[in-house]
Amino acid sequence: MNTIIPNAIERVLLDEETIAVRVHELAVQISTDYVKSDNLVLIGVLKGAFIFMADLARCLTVPHHVDFIALSSYNRGTVSTGAVRLIMDTRASVTGRHLLIVEDILDTGYTLDYLLRTFRARNPASLRTCVLISKPDRRQVEVPVDYLGFEIPNEWVVGYGLDYSDRFRTLPYIGVLKREMYK
Ligand code: PRP
Repeated sequence: MNTIIPNAIERVLLDEETIAVRVHELAVQISTDYVKSDNLVLIGVLKGAFIFMADLARCLTVPHHVDFIALSSYNRGTVSTGAVRLIMDTRASVTGRHLLIVEDILDTGYTLDYLLRTFRARNPASLRTCVLISKPDRRQVEVPVDYLGFEIPNEWVVGYGLDYSDRFRTLPYIGVLKREMYK
């Protein structure tokens, strides 16, 4: 298959196959860990996690439900202020259920920290996190990650759900955006 690489992309960081292999490995690990727990709910964080969530969920071999949450972070220019606002909650109650938060990217950590505090307060049976991409250099608040796809350097990446101004989300790979796009 020909891979289309828009002009705005400097290079492909993680190609389709690399992502697919890692997503499958994560799904195997999650399926093993949850084999005895019924009532597993994957909670995808919109919009970025929609593709990762769809691929991960379809690789799981344990029964599960899917639900979604949407957040908005208050950014001042390109700088995250750390303030997070809930704009769409899960459809179903999460109390007493095994929750796995599914995120595309962990950057400052503010979003996942907010989600963990929010869901912990709702008394789930358990609460874990699954993150495809982590940028450890950007962290402002430490958050636990139970299942991690890849650690990457501090570069702006797009594709596989990740965006720049809502563009490039549906590229099948994860690519590095040219600096001139956001400088
Ligand atoms: C991205 C990503 C995470 C968050 C991580 O969402 O999907 O939810 O940023 O950043 P943090 O660790 O610094 O909090 P974004 O606000 O870009 O919205 P989107 O998912 O709709 O693209």
